Amino acid sequence: MSIALIVLAAGKGTRMKSDLPKVLHKIAHAPMLWHAMRAGAALEPAHTVVVAGHGADLVQASARDFDPTAQVVLQTEQLGTGHAVAQARPALEGFRGDAIVLYGDTPFISQETLTAMAEARTSHDVVVLGFEAADPARYGRLVTQGNSLERIVEFKDASDQERTITLCNSGVIAADAQVLFSLIEAVGNDNASGEYYLTDIVGIAREQGLSATVVQCAEAETLGVNSRADLAAAEAAFQRRRRAELLENGITLPAPETVHLAWDTVIGRDCEVEQNVVFGPDVTVESGAHIRAFSHLEGAHVSRGSVVGPYARLRPGAELAENVHVGNFVEIKKAVLHEGVKANHLTYIGDADIGAGTNIGAGTITCNYDGVFKHKTTIGAGAFIGSNTMLVAPVTIGAGGMTASGSVITENVPDGALALARGKQEIKPGLATKLFKMLKARKAKEQAK
Ligand code: UD1
Ligand code: MG
Repeated sequence: MSIALIVLAAGKGTRMKSDLPKVLHKIAHAPMLWHAMRAGAALEPAHTVVVAGHGADLVQASARDFDPTAQVVLQTEQLGTGHAVAQARPALEGFRGDAIVLYGDTPFISQETLTAMAEARTSHDVVVLGFEAADPARYGRLVTQGNSLERIVEFKDASDQERTITLCNSGVIAADAQVLFSLIEAVGNDNASGEYYLTDIVGIAREQGLSATVVQCAEAETLGVNSRADLAAAEAAFQRRRRAELLENGITLPAPETVHLAWDTVIGRDCEVEQNVVFGPDVTVESGAHIRAFSHLEGAHVSRGSVVGPYARLRPGAELAENVHVGNFVEIKKAVLHEGVKANHLTYIGDADIGAGTNIGAGTITCNYDGVFKHKTTIGAGAFIGSNTMLVAPVTIGAGGMTASGSVITENVPDGALALARGKQEIKPGLATKLFKMLKARKAKEQAK
């Protein structure tokens, strides 16, 4: 079955008190919109249509960032969810298949739930995602008769008796796309809000003799975001769930509540992630690696057997091969550290390629930036970079080469060569003793004044 996603994202989100459209606020480093689009992407949709309104340009750019083939349509006035879905009609002209309506501000609907809805569509014309609400509050209520969904009544329009129903509407609806659009054509706005309710299509479908049913999900999946407090709660819920999944998948987290994950963090089994580790976007940690406390990683790839931290920072383009050690106060950016490289203390490596087995001494810095351009440092395999070496890029150190501690390396070093680039040491016998004496005498004189 061919599927089209329609993602509603035109609302302003007044209660966010923000210049940014609501759906672009981030959870685990990704806009809410991406979370919704990612769940839908599991169904391999033929079309994804995002309905934008407030901040449409920004919403369009973000949707395309996630999926360059996404179509974005404009809803200039927010006249209701039914009206919003109708805006997607021209984009799906001639499309044969199912449409699934998602909300951009409801980020946690799972792939499994959407699959269950697609499944239920094989035996019903309209499928609505419902949930048993602990506090039904102002949600739309699902009026059922046995397995059949008869209609959805909005809270504002519901009778006292209907308000006692606890089975609520999540907003997610699936139907044949062309059936959906023709049902929406019949929706009016004669209701308490004066809006075109998408939810009215259920009653209309039933009147036309079409069937409708409810697929249920856990209430946690339907969590919507309307305020910054909701956003914080959504972030916490995401973090809790992902940590639990990692534990379940064979990752050791001695203090899971202190580890911060991104929406796309990948960690292999038998890894250990210690306390207070923060993952930014786009990090993959292969099986058996060890990320020690207080490290910060983004855009990085860490291979099997590598140890990172404590207090390490891996920035975008950090590529650690197997059994690499990156220790405390080491920052790596856009650099490949081949197998067995050790950079254990106080180092900056940027725009570099470091050969297998090379040892980088404490305090080493790749001077990669001249104020305008970035330059590359290349170090061969099995080299030894002495502590406090400044590698002024562009520069190459050959395989098996060495630099003396404290060197400022400005010229290439051939394979197997030692580069010494520092002032020659001089010894002045007795001069220290003499200096101390002089200084102490001066201090005593000043204190006597
Ligand atoms: C809607 C449902 C309600 C359900 C609830 C679940 C309707 C009429 N009601 O109510 O049954 O229980 O969601 O959260 O559908 N949007 C647009 N354009 C519009 C209006 C809305 O794009 O003109 C978007 C919003 O940005 C939002 C989504 O649609 O992402 C839902 O709109 P919202 O106003 O929050 O609907 P609710 O009143 O919560
Ligand atoms: Mg809402």
